[in-house]
This record gives sequence, C-alpha cells and structure tokens, in this order.
Amino acid sequence: MCILYDNKDFMSYIRKPVKHLAVIMDGNGRWAERRGLPRWRGHEAGVDAVRRLAEAACRFQIPVVTAFAFSSENWKRPEREVRTLFRLFERYFHSERNTLPGNGIRVSVFGRRDRIPNFVREAVAALEAETRGCSRLHLRIALDYGGRHEIVEAARSLARRVARGELQPGRIDEELFSASLSGDGIGDPDLVIRTAGERRLSNFLLWQAAYSELYFCSKLWPDFDESDLQTALADYESRTRRFGALPAAGVYRKAFQGAAEGAV
Ligand code: FPP
Repeated sequence: MCILYDNKDFMSYIRKPVKHLAVIMDGNGRWAERRGLPRWRGHEAGVDAVRRLAEAACRFQIPVVTAFAFSSENWKRPEREVRTLFRLFERYFHSERNTLPGNGIRVSVFGRRDRIPNFVREAVAALEAETRGCSRLHLRIALDYGGRHEIVEAARSLARRVARGELQPGRIDEELFSASLSGDGIGDPDLVIRTAGERRLSNFLLWQAAYSELYFCSKLWPDFDESDLQTALADYESRTRRFGALPAAGVYRKAFQGAAEGAV
C-alpha cells in the first residue's frame, strides 16, 4: 500500500489520534518459509519490524504501543524455536539500550516473569531501568502473556483481598478489576492491528480490547512498515466509536422516534 500523505499532512488530517496501539505480530515463519530461509530468520526480520514500528509510532505521535512478542501458548512450539526466540529477545533488549533512551522511548515488559529464562529477565530489567524516564513513546512488550491467565490472576488477587477482609465483594466493579490487570492507568487500546491475514485475538488483551477497533491486514509482520501503519490509522480515522451508545446525538433518536410514533 502506498503512503497516502506525507507525515505532516497526515497528522493534520487526523481528528481521532490513537493514544494506545496494540499489535499482534504474525507471519514471521511464513515470511522466512517463502524465502527458503529457516524460521528464525523470520523472527530476526520481525525484530527489525518492531524497531521500525517504534520509530513510526513516534512520527505519528502515538504515545503507547503494546506488542505481543510471546504468548503463553507459544511454549508449545519446538524447544529449539523457543530458545532462539528468547536469544533474539535478549539481543534486542541489550542492543536497544544504546538507542532507545536517546529517542525518548521507554520499554516495559509484562506477562509472567517466572517462566522466562534468567538471561532475558535480567536484560529486561536493565532496559526497563535505563528507559524509565523516557516519555515520547512507551513501548510495552507482552512476553509469556495470556489474556485469560491475566484475568484469572486478577480474580485471584481480588479474592485474596476479600478473604483477608480488606475488600467487600460488592466493591468489585469494572474499574477495580481493570486496575488489577497489567497496564493499569495506561488506558485500553484504541486500535488492535493483526498482520498475516489471521482474524482473531489469540488470547491478547481480552479484557482491555473489549471496545478496541480491530484492523486486520494480509502483510506478514516482517514486511509491515510505516505506510501500512498509516493505512491502518487512516482506516481507524474512518470508524465511528460508539462504546455501545448511539452515534451523533439526534440522528438516531429522530429515526427511532419516527418509528415508535408509526408503531401500532
Ligand atoms: C509470529 O510469527 C510471531 C511471534 C511468535 C512472535 C515473535 C515476534 C518477534 C520475534 C518480533 C520481535 C519482538 C520483539 C519485542 C523484539 P509466527 O512464527 O507465528 O509466524 P507464522 O504464523 O507465519 O508461522
């Protein structure tokens, strides 16, 4: 897809800025297979695409990007592929210490920390500490993350507070439940992009994406670039977000009244 506008024009056309973008990066394996390369080369190219995404998000003034790097189901992959992925993540977390702080990009990782290898945990902690003060873009990386597990954990922690007598069950509402999940205070994603033609959430941000706009494209993740992001943002711009309410005040109410008056 071609670039619709240059960045400056595009930003002046935007009326509905995306404050939180979430991305399901799919298609690394297919990208490699189509080139007769081993799968890990697709993941390596996928890492480059994450770097491009972060730069593009800065240019499009998106303050928060959440990327799904490794799901709790990805452990089912062959051990060799899992090992390679964690080595790539470690390399990424190390190398970005040289570039991200200078670009004002903060990185944080969420998901289970008890199962990922030590060398990744350490690299994550170092990069998180190094970029903590950056505020241009917050890049959140989901690692060993599963939406259902996150919801179960939140329910457990609230149940523990109830059992200790610290919380009345009646005080548990959507706001309190949201606050028990990762990303508390960040806000739900406005837009979720999934690449490589699949049209599902695959256990990603199940609670948080309840009212997100979904955008699916056929590009494989390693090929996803700034122009694809721009196309997705332009598509988002055309959506009407209603959160269960009616659109522009008056329009539907009038139509509804008319129908009701005509009803027998
Ligand atoms: C999907 O491709 C991608 C993954 C399993 C996640 C790995 C993501 C990266 C390596 C991107 C880099 C991320 C960071 C944060 C540095 P797939 O293997 O499922 O592709 P396929 O469906 O074509 O087999």
